Amino acid sequence: MPDTPQISESAVESAVEAALAAIAAAPDTAALKAARSAHAGEASTLAQLNATLRDVPNDQKAALGKLVGQARGRVQQAVAAREGELAVAEEQARLDAETIDVTGIPARRAQGARHPLTTMMEQMSDIFLAMGWEVAEGPELENEWFNFDALNFDPDHPARAMQDTFFIDPVERHLVLRTHTSPVQIRSLLERELPVYVVAPGRVFRTDELDATHTPVFHQMEGIAIDKGLTMAHLRGTLEHIARSMFGEGARIRLRPSYFPFTEPSAELDVWHPTFTGGARWIEWGGCGMVNPNVLRAAGIDPDVYQGFAFGMGIERTLMFRNGVSDMRDMVEGDVRFSQQFGMVV
Ligand code: PHE
Repeated sequence: MPDTPQISESAVESAVEAALAAIAAAPDTAALKAARSAHAGEASTLAQLNATLRDVPNDQKAALGKLVGQARGRVQQAVAAREGELAVAEEQARLDAETIDVTGIPARRAQGARHPLTTMMEQMSDIFLAMGWEVAEGPELENEWFNFDALNFDPDHPARAMQDTFFIDPVERHLVLRTHTSPVQIRSLLERELPVYVVAPGRVFRTDELDATHTPVFHQMEGIAIDKGLTMAHLRGTLEHIARSMFGEGARIRLRPSYFPFTEPSAELDVWHPTFTGGARWIEWGGCGMVNPNVLRAAGIDPDVYQGFAFGMGIERTLMFRNGVSDMRDMVEGDVRFSQQFGMVV
């Protein structure tokens, strides 16, 4: 038990001075709290001096009481004043720490780049949109009927065979990963009023091994136009327009007789690529033809009233010979540096 301090002017004064010094020296509100409890709390010298008041002679009580009371008042005021100062300083420090320079240049990090196959499909779609065509989509998991039957494939057509088509188990459900975008022809004809002018870019699947020139997952751009009085001349004109838009004014097209179950007559589409790396040349670009009457009938259309044409080309192939990509695997590996070469960094 420490000695009870004797009440006197000098004892009060030195207690106040010690208190004021501790309060002024407190660097933050936590330290101030400690200083207050040490110098103004129940165990403080001033509180103890205050407690001794009851023992002082009556004639001194008023004067000493006033002395101690004023001393405690000064300490309380000093605490309150320092509290205010520290609150302002701490608030300022917090604001400084949280300051954001809204005029600063953010640390931007490129998240990726749009894939050139995507931008090419959009570019080709835009060329058709500008002619008033529509863009359609169909499911990648497709009914065999849309992928083959409605497109006039014989039940024993070799394209249905296991080595080309990914059939989905169980086979009785007749689901396939679509082997081409041509089922969107049928879907578009069933969904829309005539006339129909539709392009359908999308992903297709065949059981090929991945190598420099094959990939089991690739992209096609389908086109179908059904109207009254459409002829092969309209097909040629349309293909010539898309060829020039994609390969420049010097581009031309060539049609070679071919066979597809869903077109009659059918043709292979070649494009004269005027700026091919290594010299201008003909390139096989896709297939096309006049829509087979059986396909129109499958979609409930009278072939004596409506006719039209269809075409389809590979997007990967187009990117390869248009942009000089020599290995198809670069398109599927997902290395952002490949995409970045084509621009459209996001
Ligand atoms: N679907 C055919 C293919 O994948 C291409 C094609 C489309 C041919 C439209 C004619 C008409 O090879």
